[in-house]
Amino acid sequence: MLVVRLLRGAVRHARRRPLCSTEGLSPAACGINSSPRRAFADGRAQNSNCTEIDHPKILITGGLGQLGVGLAKLLRRRFGKNNVILSDIRKPPNHVYHNGPFIFSDILDYKNLREIVVNNNISWLVHYSAVLSAVGENNVSLAKEVNITGLHNILDIAAEHGLRVFVPSTIGAFGPSSPRDPTPELCVQRPRTIYGVSKVHAELMGEYYHHRYGLDFRCLRYPGIISADSQPGGGTTDYAVQIFHAAVKTGYFECNLRSDTRLPMMYIDDCLRATLEILEAPADSLTSRTYNINAMSFTPQDLTQEIQKMLPDLKVTYNVDPVRQAIADSWPMAFEDSAARRDWGWKHEYDLPEMVQAMLTHITPGNQLAQAY
Ligand SMILES: NC(=O)c1ccc[n+]([C@@H]2O[C@H](COP(=O)([O-])OP(=O)(O)OC[C@H]3O[C@@H](n4cnc5c(N)ncnc54)[C@H](O)[C@@H]3O)[C@@H](O)[C@H]2O)c1
Repeated sequence: MLVVRLLRGAVRHARRRPLCSTEGLSPAACGINSSPRRAFADGRAQNSNCTEIDHPKILITGGLGQLGVGLAKLLRRRFGKNNVILSDIRKPPNHVYHNGPFIFSDILDYKNLREIVVNNNISWLVHYSAVLSAVGENNVSLAKEVNITGLHNILDIAAEHGLRVFVPSTIGAFGPSSPRDPTPELCVQRPRTIYGVSKVHAELMGEYYHHRYGLDFRCLRYPGIISADSQPGGGTTDYAVQIFHAAVKTGYFECNLRSDTRLPMMYIDDCLRATLEILEAPADSLTSRTYNINAMSFTPQDLTQEIQKMLPDLKVTYNVDPVRQAIADSWPMAFEDSAARRDWGWKHEYDLPEMVQAMLTHITPGNQLAQAY
């Protein structure tokens, strides 16, 4: 009994300490509660100490998708190669394997994830694993597992170990009853895809853990992301990447969305920079934990015309995929992002002409990805 009382006293004392103390004891550290999922249940999360925030050790989940390798490159330039660990359930290509630490991590394996966080002294977690919109509609149970159960694992581990956690959301977190032009930060969110439902769930769970346990949760709603050297992972906006590879390789593209489908889009460099900026933003500058970020909005027809300025022979036909079209018709046409611009100085650099120029400059006929299309 006496031991338990002493331990409880130690916990109370630790909770009164300043957040930056490196000596702060958590209930888990005291061994009061051996369950990782209950260790923080009656207290606030441990917070990363000052040293960790100056030199964070970062884990990226789902890192072999469209965005993870580019983000790892940016974060490694900023924080050092060995401080950023990429992870996924797939085998990395050689150039990724040799460019910095890579580890196998299945976000559905809670114990494995926890071991990785503990053994590598992780302080920031970027959670990129997901099943995207079009793939999710074809496999709802997989999307539920990865996007919802996986997220629960991530949030519990982050709260237990006092991590800063970044989870991207999407324009897909809105639905047909949301205002679409532009879509504000706060409005009705009734998405019609399992992907969108799981992302609204992620936003709300992250914000709940922030208020309930003090979790340092940060979330950006990305538009469709356009990148030259990584393939999109089965989303509704994939056409806006595929068209470039087809334009360079064959001069012909069959688009699976209607020519007048207007959606918010962003060049990958802007997206990754925004992610680094929100990760580094001082907590007291954030008036929200979930922000819209916007750059440009265009239709397949707008994009075709812009590409034709540089590749006039490009021919585009339309063969609409009803599943993707229905998703796109329920999504925002433009995004309102004044809160991000005000709170942490968000500013995009690429509009449609700059993006098209950058994509065509990167994609040459010898490019590996161009050959894959
Ligand atoms: N790419 C976009 O246009 C876009 C737009 C909005 C939001 N986002 C969000 O950004 C994040 C990254 O997007 P992306 O385009 O790189 O996704 P992607 O589909 O290209 O990659 C997702 C990765 O998750 C991995 N994964 C799947 N199941 C896993 C599991 N059980 N454990 C660990 N990893 C697993 C996959 O192997 C894949 O490499 C996602 O959360 C996505 O919802 C992306």
